[in-house]
Amino acid sequence: MSKRWIKEHKKDYYYRLAKREGYRSRAAYKLIEIQEKFNIIGQNDDVLDLGSFPGSWLQVSRFLTSGKVVGVDLKEIKPISGVYTIKGDITDEETLKKIREVCKKFDVILSDASPKTTGIDDLDSYRSYEIAMSVLKIADEVLRKGGNLVLKVFQSGEMGEILRKARKRFKYVKVTKPKASKKYSKEVYIVCKGFKRRLRKKKTNSGRNMP
Ligand SMILES: C[S@@+](CC[C@H](N)C(=O)[O-])C[C@H]1O[C@@H](n2cnc3c(N)ncnc32)[C@H](O)[C@@H]1O
Repeated sequence: MSKRWIKEHKKDYYYRLAKREGYRSRAAYKLIEIQEKFNIIGQNDDVLDLGSFPGSWLQVSRFLTSGKVVGVDLKEIKPISGVYTIKGDITDEETLKKIREVCKKFDVILSDASPKTTGIDDLDSYRSYEIAMSVLKIADEVLRKGGNLVLKVFQSGEMGEILRKARKRFKYVKVTKPKASKKYSKEVYIVCKGFKRRLRKKKTNSGRNMP
């Protein structure tokens, strides 16, 4: 464990708070702040959390709603009472099938999923963009009309495109950076409310689908 790691994590306010309050990660406070500001999760909502290991957003969601709470991650998530977890890749079609087997539609989708960073800005941003596209695709399939989405992205050239796609789908879209998000981190959260509809692909004259 490097000195830098200890400085950044051990002495971090939110890290210590999470330890004390029994959250699996300091990330809990990002969702708590988003919830306080934007009221994303209602008390009976079914919630899907994409990229949810180790599980602090699942813990917060479980507390906020009496509906279903489903978490997906590449990594195995240790059980949380009343939470259904799926080990899978959210960019993989198979994972969507598994999600649907548990719950057909959700009121809220959360995504704190982030790729393993390489330090190469362009590559990291592109991978974050790919994840965002997969999340929007999953939202198109399983988010209820009027539903809400919270989507983590890295600030980059691709962000404009992600926002454009989000605005097409939702009535309200806002970018936020919670206090618990480290200042030097490029991450921000796009808060989207009021899912309008499932976008249908346009067909060209040749009958082929347009993106
Ligand atoms: C910052 S962590 C999430 C922390 C979580 N919100 C919490 O509160 O505990 C990001 C997670 O995204 C997951 N992830 C990244 N790419 C993924 C993918 N393609 N499919 C599923 N999970 C993914 C990683 O495995 C990692 O656990």
